[in-house]
Amino acid sequence: MCGIVGYVGNKKCIPILINGLLKLEYRGYDSAGIATISNNYINIIKCKGRVCNLQNQAEINNLTSTTGIAHTRWATHGIPSKENAHPHMDNLGNFAVVHNGIIENYLELKNFLIDNGYFFYSETDTEVIPNLIHYFYTNDLIDDKMKLLRAVKNTCAKLKGSYALEIISKFNPNTVIAIRKSSPLIIGTNKSEKFIASDIPAILQYTNDFYFLADNEFAVITKNKLDFYDKNLVKQHKNTEKVDINCCSINKSGYKDYMLKEVYEQSTSIQNTFYKFMVDNNISFPYINIDIGSINMIYIVACGTAMHAGLCGKFALESLCNIPTIVDISSEFRYRNPLLNKNSLCIFISQSGETADTIAALELAKSKGATTLAITNVFNSSITRKADYSLYTYSGPEIAVASTKAYTSQITLLVGISIYFSELLANTNTHFLKDEILTLPNKIKQTLQTSSKIKKLAKKLYNKDNIFFLGRGIDYITSMEASLKLKEISYIHSEAFAAGELKHGPIALIDNESYIICTITDSTLIYKVISNIEEVTARGAKTIIITSEELQTSDSEFIIKVPKTNKLLSPILSIIPHQLLAYYIAKEKGLDVDKPRNLAKSVTVE
Ligand code: F6R
Repeated sequence: MCGIVGYVGNKKCIPILINGLLKLEYRGYDSAGIATISNNYINIIKCKGRVCNLQNQAEINNLTSTTGIAHTRWATHGIPSKENAHPHMDNLGNFAVVHNGIIENYLELKNFLIDNGYFFYSETDTEVIPNLIHYFYTNDLIDDKMKLLRAVKNTCAKLKGSYALEIISKFNPNTVIAIRKSSPLIIGTNKSEKFIASDIPAILQYTNDFYFLADNEFAVITKNKLDFYDKNLVKQHKNTEKVDINCCSINKSGYKDYMLKEVYEQSTSIQNTFYKFMVDNNISFPYINIDIGSINMIYIVACGTAMHAGLCGKFALESLCNIPTIVDISSEFRYRNPLLNKNSLCIFISQSGETADTIAALELAKSKGATTLAITNVFNSSITRKADYSLYTYSGPEIAVASTKAYTSQITLLVGISIYFSELLANTNTHFLKDEILTLPNKIKQTLQTSSKIKKLAKKLYNKDNIFFLGRGIDYITSMEASLKLKEISYIHSEAFAAGELKHGPIALIDNESYIICTITDSTLIYKVISNIEEVTARGAKTIIITSEELQTSDSEFIIKVPKTNKLLSPILSIIPHQLLAYYIAKEKGLDVDKPRNLAKSVTVE
């Protein structure tokens, strides 16, 4: 994972690099560091922990250089520490490198370098890179202006794994070299300044003109010039692309945390999503040219919360289109030789569009001849550039690590595409569902009014060690997502159970210390779930019920009502009290909600 930023121009680079790092902290925040170059000397400042620790280093204000690279780390190889923080240098201090990705063969390369007299200061995989560059640079007898680039190219030819790299060298003091393979890297440009970053928002305030580096493509970046080369160092012509995202929306707008802001944005974010495919009750996806009649199996592949959205999508696709739908975790799908052919449609869901396992799963599906459709929230992300077709959730940037508004937009889009396919197949009358989609923004606002009750509930639950979630049918999916939200930001152990499975083992966990949160919105299953609630209550558990306003459930310490809606859309409303509960419990515990420990927003390593 990790975030990287770079700058070459005529301004002091430090404020621009720090600002970019702060915007990239969602990719990791175990350590941060900067390398700048002036008077043929590379200066490195780094520290353990967050970017604000870097800002607090006194020396940082003395740096006046106009060329620099910077990094915020999510630890893979080596503990979070100053020694393992990037940038890393070669032994002689000639080259500095920041890296996002994993070098899988680093041990082999390290041993090779040790045999050649190099030594290592960190436990990282990255440190082999500047030393390999040094090795190739010093062994290259041709002394021309391509020498550094050749050393970088020869180094990359040895690397296995994924990487986005920025490199500076005291031999080319006003230049940054950038290269990527399976990790994102973009370059923003204006006349006399160049900006490099892992993603667009990190540098969007400086320019709207971007180059998107392709895999194995090199960029040689100076303030006035930008040259691109392919993996054989043949010069490439590239065009800039304009990106117009409103970067003003990337602030907390008065909310205490991004997560809370994003939970409250859901009425707007799902509306922005369905307005793109639904006009006057007509649904169309003009750029999706899939012969749905020829599809006999749909796979939905994703990770974490996006996978939960996929599980909700399965209900919509199967019930509206009658096409069997399998939902799979990307990291499982990619290694299990799935049965795919030209009659398979594979839908890949990813908020970031950069999740390494989902990208690899997509590549596998393409190689087996399946039609691929990406659903993502980030324009021009890696997944969209690889898929046959792409659809966007128009949620706006999601900054908090815990995904909320992207999830409800993904479900909205999946229901939309299911209706569209079903209309193409002439399967069902879908008017009622389209009418219902239009009511969702208001119903979300109503659901958010449960907030004060949920705050009280959080005070009761924040010191528990275990919390269980229970549901049947589509409510089981909501329970799974609720459990993920709770554990990732409050660090309380939680598990979700399909209510009917309780008796097959999990009920052994239940005693009079147990708290169980039940979601019941499916009227056809209510009596079944009530029986399951009775069973856990009989064993001393306390229950909290989140249910639809028209349903009569059993008694419970806390009952939270959400507005009635269609079953396929119900997860959009019923997850909201769970999102708020996870948020308020984490706040009660004094935790950093937006940046939970050990996590990062974008999982760009497998
Ligand atoms: C949980 C969460 C993660 C992501 C998962 C996939 O709140 O955010 O589980 O859903 O890492 O990320 P994307 O959607 O970017 O592929």
